[in-house]
Amino acid sequence: MLNGKKVFLIIAGGIAAYKCLDLIRRLREQGASVRCCLTENAKEFVTPLSVSALSQGPVYTDQFSLKDESEMSHIELSRASDILVVAPATADVMAKMAAGLADQLATTLVLATDKPVLIAPAMNLRMWLHAATQANLATLMARGIHVVGPNEGPMACNEFGPGRMAEVPEIIAAIDGVLSPVQSLAGCHAIVTSGPTVEPIDPVRFIANRSSGKQGHAIAAALAAKGARVTLVSGPTALPDPVGVTTVSVETACEMLAACQSALPADIVVCAAAVADWGIKAAEQKLKKRPGGTPPVLELTLNPDILATLSAAGPNRPRLVVGFAAETEDLIAHARDKRSRKGCDWIVANDVSAETGTFGSDTNQVHLISAEACESWPSLDKRAVATRLADRIAEALS
Ligand code: PMT
Repeated sequence: MLNGKKVFLIIAGGIAAYKCLDLIRRLREQGASVRCCLTENAKEFVTPLSVSALSQGPVYTDQFSLKDESEMSHIELSRASDILVVAPATADVMAKMAAGLADQLATTLVLATDKPVLIAPAMNLRMWLHAATQANLATLMARGIHVVGPNEGPMACNEFGPGRMAEVPEIIAAIDGVLSPVQSLAGCHAIVTSGPTVEPIDPVRFIANRSSGKQGHAIAAALAAKGARVTLVSGPTALPDPVGVTTVSVETACEMLAACQSALPADIVVCAAAVADWGIKAAEQKLKKRPGGTPPVLELTLNPDILATLSAAGPNRPRLVVGFAAETEDLIAHARDKRSRKGCDWIVANDVSAETGTFGSDTNQVHLISAEACESWPSLDKRAVATRLADRIAEALS
């Protein structure tokens, strides 16, 4: 797979560093050459000697090594490979990368490179879920840094959750995906809806929902990675616009429909947004709370159904329309019913009961339902759900 590719592996200081010894071996088996840099902390987990023995080359550790610099400067070093892989990417290294620090050779190389960078995060689950790490992750992804993992499972610190470094075959597949992306959706236009809609009550108040946009944005990025031209129509979210995607920001369901319709024609539509079924007859002025007064009665209005409208777009109908079904009971039965009522080709069913934490979290457990079949996927990172869905879409259109 990776024959002749040059991989520069930056090993940071986490317990998962031991897996990098196997990663080096497997990369070389695939025909890749591997050069390695260890952070100071990484040396606590693996020795430069073992890394050098497995990679069969020098191991770089020192920012100010006269010997290394005279042979190849750190700028050249950062650009002499086809890809830089940071594994394990610790919370500390991710923070430094997000801040643009160059306080040691590893971070300097990442900052100085003009090559794609892939990180394989690994850390304690609380560190992974911490708002600071998640903000750093969003920053790195918005800059086009590729990410594989982390996986969910038992951790070295005896806790259970997301934070385990991706397994070696997953990292190798991700490197291959970055270096030889299969452009199976080249020439296709995809419209993806994402995030919540916001329905104003008056000029200062609104009704919205808990969608973060993580699932929809990940789908837009996954379709773009396969070469599709993607229009992402998104309600308000805290997420950065995905790289390589045209993002149209909207607030209400009516605006979302209008933006989708003006983006037509499209080959693919994926409606992952949590669209309000009802809008409100909004007051022109701020509603006043009067002492002793009764609370106002809000008059609801029926919003257009974007998924049903695009599924029935006549000669303009996209070749494949995929909806989502967010349910809290009878998931599969309700999702099947929704698929036929709204006229879409596939529906992705997910349980959004409070205990699942689907809204806003990084993981999702979905069922892909078509007229013929229902396929249940395990709980996956939302990016992995997006990649699988994009794979299925590419197969269906091929
Ligand atoms: O954003 P995250 O925090 O990552 O969470 C992801 C998610 C839970 C929002 C996502 O996975 C999801 O389930 N999206 C659909 C949410 C939803 O509104 O589901 P629904 O069952 O109410 O609607 C069914 C389908 O009709 C959806 O494709 C929806 O986009 C679409 N719809 C609904 C109402 C409407 N007026 N117009 C629509 O197009």
